[in-house]
This record gives sequence, structure tokens and C-alpha cells, in this order.
Amino acid sequence: MEKKPEFHGSDLEKIAEYYQIPPEEIIKFGANVNPLGISEKVKEQLSANLDIISNYPDRSYTSLKRTISEYCGVSPSCIAVGNGSTELISLLIKQRQSKKALVLGPTYSEYEHELHLTGGEIYEYNLKECEDFCLNTRDFLDSIESGTDLIILCNPNNPTSSAIRQVELKKLLSEAKKLNIFVMIDETYIEFVPDISEITAVPLTAQYDNLIVIRGVSKFFAAPGLRFGYGITCSREFLQFLLIHQNPWSLNSIGAFAGELMLKDHEYIQKTRQLICQERDRLFHLLQNMSGVKVYKPYGNFILVRLMKTGITSSDLFEAAIKEKMMIRDCSSFQALEGEYIRFCIMLPEDNDRLMRCLAAQLGT
Ligand SMILES: Cc1ncc(COP(=O)(O)O)c(C=O)c1O
Repeated sequence: MEKKPEFHGSDLEKIAEYYQIPPEEIIKFGANVNPLGISEKVKEQLSANLDIISNYPDRSYTSLKRTISEYCGVSPSCIAVGNGSTELISLLIKQRQSKKALVLGPTYSEYEHELHLTGGEIYEYNLKECEDFCLNTRDFLDSIESGTDLIILCNPNNPTSSAIRQVELKKLLSEAKKLNIFVMIDETYIEFVPDISEITAVPLTAQYDNLIVIRGVSKFFAAPGLRFGYGITCSREFLQFLLIHQNPWSLNSIGAFAGELMLKDHEYIQKTRQLICQERDRLFHLLQNMSGVKVYKPYGNFILVRLMKTGITSSDLFEAAIKEKMMIRDCSSFQALEGEYIRFCIMLPEDNDRLMRCLAAQLGT
């Protein structure tokens, strides 16, 4: 075998080729996607309505925005839709033209990637391992440097799976408002949290026009290929910017159609939440009792684990798991995670058990 290349979390094809495993046989513990797959109801409706490809989507996405408005409890006039949350993150960062942005880390790398393109200064405030990656709001607010005009955070956060409660976000937003700072909150993983109303910032968008909340269907609704994301904000400036700078029909007609069905599929939503909440509690408990690891209370559909046994690296664990056709995330590429960390998402119970057995065998417990 040639020298092992560096893999990114979504490099399934590269990994399959390198380890000579058919990609469909790999259990994707690194993708953070709902293991139930797309809802059967949505699949049936999609296949019966494929002719919609022959139409342009409604340019204003009126029906889709109405559905999002009901799903989130906000006015349709505060909703933007886009090609995955990625497009809206990118457009927001372009619109802000930040001179100095603060990113709450360690986190998803795409924010800094986009910020680099606009050329402003970027600095990080990192969640602390000794505080189990839970935010100390006062300390965070004290760290805001003068001249900061944008704060970006992910809630629940990838990769720590920690979450910030709405009461804390409110303090953060009030302070940001006083300092004339815009805040972007990525809620890609919000539907997985035990109590959404305790964590989401969506209700705060009515009160704070310096806030945008960005969400999508890639993870919870198992539809990363659909590329449907949405944003909620009362910022007239941003909504106006989209009218000029966003490509028309940036979300295709299949995405708009399926997106609506997904958000209305209460049975699927309930089934997913039940599975993830149950498995998350079970795995968290198992890991707390496993020697050689430290685990942090997870709020998303994934768990961050620190390897505490001397001589065992995240790369060793990745290697051991992939040899058993399980692909986890080796977190060594996340900046500001010092030590050996792995992240894996919650899959079906029998797959989760297999991963736990692999972990225990590697750690010799
Ligand atoms: C925190 C976070 N935000 C956004 C995305 C991308 O989402 P989308 O597929 O909606 O563009 C990801 C994908 O891994 C993510 O982890």
C-alpha cells in the first residue's frame, strides 16, 4: 500500500478505494446523518412526482416558506432558502464583509474558509476541555475584542456536541447588539437535541435583528444530496442582499418539493428523535463506564470522545474501525482540539454496539 493519505470526514470514496472496501458496505459513523435514511413517505411522493423537474421552482418559494414558517413558528417574511445551509453561510459572510470576526471553536471549518475569502481578520474563542467544552458565557463575552463585527457559532456544536442554552444566547445577543455585532448561529443539528425549545435561537430572531439562524435538512432528514437549507432572520439588509446576489432558483424544484414533505413528516421526526435520544443516552452511559476514554455530554447526534490510554492515537482507532468497515472521524484535523479525539455519529443500535466492541477491544477493556 502507498503512504496513507490524509482523509476528510466526507471522503467516503477515497477511503473506500484506499482500504479496498465497497463504499456501500461502510457504516458512515463520520457523516452525522440520520441512520434511518430518507422517510419512505417522502420517497414515494418523490418518485410519483418526478415530472416537477420539467418546471422551474417558484422563484419566491412561497409554499416552501409557508411550510418552514409553520415548522419554526416564524413569519414567512423572515425566511431565506438556499442550496444547503452552506450557500446561506457563504452569502451571509459575503454580505457582512466582516473586518474582524470571532468564531467559537473548535468548530466546523467552513466558517473560517468562507471568512478567509472576504479577507477580514479572524480570531477564535475556544471552548475549554476542562469545562467539558461547555460555554462560559461571561468569559466569552469578556474575550470580545474591540472592532469585532461578526460572531459565528454552531449550536449544538460540531465536533464537541455541546450546546448553549437559549437563556445564555440571549445574554450573548444583547451584548452583541450593544456592540453592533452581527451573530450567525448554525443550527444544523438542532432537531437532535433533547429539548429544542431550551436551545434554539429561532424565537430570538423576532427580538434581535443582528441575528441569523441557519438550518438545513442534510443531517436530521438524511438528505445531504438534496442541498436544501434555510435561514431565519429579521435583518432586512441580508434579505435585500439575497434578492440581488443569490442566483435565482438556487434551490431546485425537487429540493423545494421534498423539503416541504420532510418538514411536515411528523411521524418520521418523532421516530428519529426517539431513536437518537435513546441511543445517545445508552452510548453516553456505556462510554462513561469504559476505561481509557473521556466522553463529553452530547446534544447532537454525534459523540466526541477523548482517548486517554497512552500510545493509542485517533489514527489508530480510525484504522481499527475502518478495517471492520466502520468509518469514524479522526479529529486530528480540528484546530484547538489538543489530545487524541474521535467523533462518531449515532447509527442503528446493532451498528453502535459493533463500534463499542471495537473501541473496547482497542482500549483493552
Ligand atoms: C455544522 C455544519 N453546518 C453545515 C454543514 C453543511 O450543511 P449543508 O449540507 O446543509 O450545506 C455541516 C456539514 O457537515 C455541518 O457539520
